[in-house]
Amino acid sequence: MRHLIDISDLSVAEIDRLLDLGEDMLRRPEDYRRSQQGRILATLFFEPSTRTRLSFESAMLSMGGSVLGFPSPDSSSTAKGESLQDTIRTVSCYCDIIAMRHPKEGAPIAAAMKSEVPIINAGDGGHNHPTQTLTDLMTIRLEKGGFEGLTLGLCGDLKFGRTVHSLVTAMSRYPGVRFVLIAPPELRLPGYLTAFLREKGIPYEEVEHMEDVLPRLDILYMTRVQRERFFNEADYVRLKDTYVLTPDKLALAGEGLRVMHPLPRVNEISPKVDDDPRAVYFKQVRNGRYVRMALITRMLAENGGEEAGHEH
Ligand code: NCD
Repeated sequence: MRHLIDISDLSVAEIDRLLDLGEDMLRRPEDYRRSQQGRILATLFFEPSTRTRLSFESAMLSMGGSVLGFPSPDSSSTAKGESLQDTIRTVSCYCDIIAMRHPKEGAPIAAAMKSEVPIINAGDGGHNHPTQTLTDLMTIRLEKGGFEGLTLGLCGDLKFGRTVHSLVTAMSRYPGVRFVLIAPPELRLPGYLTAFLREKGIPYEEVEHMEDVLPRLDILYMTRVQRERFFNEADYVRLKDTYVLTPDKLALAGEGLRVMHPLPRVNEISPKVDDDPRAVYFKQVRNGRYVRMALITRMLAENGGEEAGHEH
């Protein structure tokens, strides 16, 4: 059985096909309205989430499927002391596919070992977030027409931001991509990822100020400082407002720039930027629903269901 734990579980060709299907679903949602009738998705969220959980649920409901699950660990048997593996074994008897978020890195792998159905990692601690990356890739492809040769600026908490880790891994597979890593010294990209970039000969630079690099970026990917992963509040308070994108700063960038953010935003993008045509973070949210529809469809089809049918 195939699970989606890390974005590199998917080949580049598989990602391309998922994005094709996601884009078709975005253009003609009515054709897929009943395509997952009778199937059940469980969302097991052991960590707070609005966007990701609702995006999965909306994706399944948009295809005529059903959803069940719990939005936080306090409302599950985890509160009684049940192990993750027992929860997964139980829930996998009730559904066809599971989307799971967990504060511990690696928890989805432990879950996959006990599951009777495919598991989708919807974020594990400060590690990975492959479905946010599919959302990001669909957005980049729709906005820029492809990935080759793009200069991607990643700004903010590159240390704990799991969406950044998965996005760097995914984008590094396309030719000519370069990274500009914008972070204070305390929040730089983890060493295992910069070592990976060096090994693959992918150009990257580490800078502290976004003003210096804005004019040369194709994408500016903003992130919030991940308060819940800090060991002490004082460090969080000191670092939280390191970057704030305002219309004045955006004026330094070219017309072709696209500003992205996985959301939730705290302070790092001024709401005054929202109406700029280069701000695409709410389009990202929309795309997330369709690319998750595509992913659920493909994973269910691969794991014994009928071929992903849409109604023509
Ligand atoms: C991200 C996450 O959960 O890692 N949010 C999301 O899934 N859209 C980013 C974040 O929480 O900052």
